[in-house]
Amino acid sequence: MMRPLFFIAALVGASSASLAQDKPADPGRDLVMQKCAQCHTDSIWRDQRQNAAAWEATAYRMMARGSIWTTDEVKNMAAFLGREFGPDVPRAKPQQR
Ligand code: HEC
Repeated sequence: MMRPLFFIAALVGASSASLAQDKPADPGRDLVMQKCAQCHTDSIWRDQRQNAAAWEATAYRMMARGSIWTTDEVKNMAAFLGREFGPDVPRAKPQQR
């Protein structure tokens, strides 16, 4: 009587465990990869460490230089950059480049 329920519970458990291992979708990362390489390589910004608000200001400076992005795109990119290139993230060591 209880068996089918346990079976379903096991399936649900297994599928959420495998989802947790997948890399979470990150629209900010994809946008940065696409858009921040259109005019220069990442060598111009990847050693900088600043918070999301400062990255947002950077993105608006890039818009003054010709890029056309929506507010959502800027917010997603700034969130990603503030997380991965934030003030507390150590700079890459030379041998890691
Ligand atoms: C429309 C072209 C364009 C795009 C797209 C672009 N940049 Fe730039 N970026 C420039 C130009 C032009 C400079 C000035 C280069 C120089 O001084 O040699 C620059 C300089 C920079 C600098 C150093 C000067 C400053 O103002 O801080 C950073 C940091 C930077 N870009 C980050 C980014 C990031 C992050 C992205 C993606 C969100 C991006 N850029 C996308 C054109 C662009």
